[in-house]
Amino acid sequence: MILVTGGAGFIGANFVLDWLKGLDEPVLNVDKLTYAGNLGTLRPLEHDGRHIFRQADICDRAALDELLAQHKPRAILHFAAESHVDRSIHGPADFVQTNVVGTFTLLESARAFWSALPEAEKKAFRFLHVSTDEVFGSLCATDPQFTETTPYAPNSPYSATKAGSDHLVRAYFHTYGLPVLTTNCSNNYGPYQFPEKLIPLMIAHALAGKPLPVYGDGQNVRDWLYVADHCAAIREVLGRGVPGETYNIGGWNEKKNLDVVHTLCDLLDAARPKTSGSYRDQITYVKDRPGHDRRYAIDARKLERELGWKPAETFETGLAKTVRWYLDNQAWVDEVASGEYRKWVETNYAQRA
Ligand code: NAD
Ligand code: TYD
Repeated sequence: MILVTGGAGFIGANFVLDWLKGLDEPVLNVDKLTYAGNLGTLRPLEHDGRHIFRQADICDRAALDELLAQHKPRAILHFAAESHVDRSIHGPADFVQTNVVGTFTLLESARAFWSALPEAEKKAFRFLHVSTDEVFGSLCATDPQFTETTPYAPNSPYSATKAGSDHLVRAYFHTYGLPVLTTNCSNNYGPYQFPEKLIPLMIAHALAGKPLPVYGDGQNVRDWLYVADHCAAIREVLGRGVPGETYNIGGWNEKKNLDVVHTLCDLLDAARPKTSGSYRDQITYVKDRPGHDRRYAIDARKLERELGWKPAETFETGLAKTVRWYLDNQAWVDEVASGEYRKWVETNYAQRA
């Protein structure tokens, strides 16, 4: 079996659902269930014996040791993290705790478990660390895209703590020989994304008739990847990636935020027209994020060259699927948009007015 951390979050849950659609290998899903973790996403697996869910914190060494000893996974896929840049600005402590201390604790537990394995299993074992392109910092409009050798230059507490975790993972390969793989991926979007991130937030606000809050001048650029493509890339890296290597994952889809919001409005205008006017009329410019990275862009050629991976979705097809999913799954959004969520939206946007 494989062990997945953070498998009740956006990408982790998509990964678990996709994995069990295609394969019969069981998944041990370890998640603390923070505000971002949602068991409702995993409801289709409720009666599926191949999915074992355990609520645990990756900072809890004893719990991790026990789970590894009991279930003996052949691989660990580490998704669990505090993942939202704006939250890291308001409260960085949780980011240091989960992203740095949690990854360290997981690495220590994995190392102890792996060291005691018989030689063949030891060789086959993998620790795959899921990271972000944000560790490379910010690009100007004319800079070349990030490659695997771009120096780290993180600018937010989120990206700094992810960079710290990447360095620890690298060190466990060089120092202890733990067979690690690291992936650095661009912005994901798709089903089950918590509505604090750009795309689901804009869809939710549009449908609720609320302002669509564009930070700064809306000209910041992100590379966007449909979540199922990210999951497929991770499966390739797990299967055939070379231990100690890092792989950039991207969608070849650089877009300005304002263009993303315009496209979303156009899709919603077609799918759920307003009685008068366009969803674009709800766009409002708000105070910028402090230290807001201007541009991220990924060169994903290594992954294509070495493992043959390419994204299946274009931005247009992926976004259309995403909008359709949110329109068809309002109940999921209502379930996760709890009291805590409403408090967050107030905290983040009140100060931007
Ligand atoms: P998410 O915030 O939606 O989910 C994170 C999950 O981790 C949640 O289920 C949460 O309950 C769990 N978690 C948090 N702290 C934990 C702890 N201490 N112990 C156990 N579980 C804990 O995040 P996501 O968007 O699914 O991102 C998953 C991973 O992918 C992260 O490592 C993130 O840095 C990385 N990543 C995300 C993106 C993106 O666009 N979302 C892009 C590139 C990389
Ligand atoms: P986000 O989804 O938070 O991802 P990240 O900061 O990790 O790239 O934001 C994507 C972009 O959208 C980023 O440039 C900030 C911007 N943004 C807004 O303009 N308004 C919003 O309400 C949010 C949440 C993000």
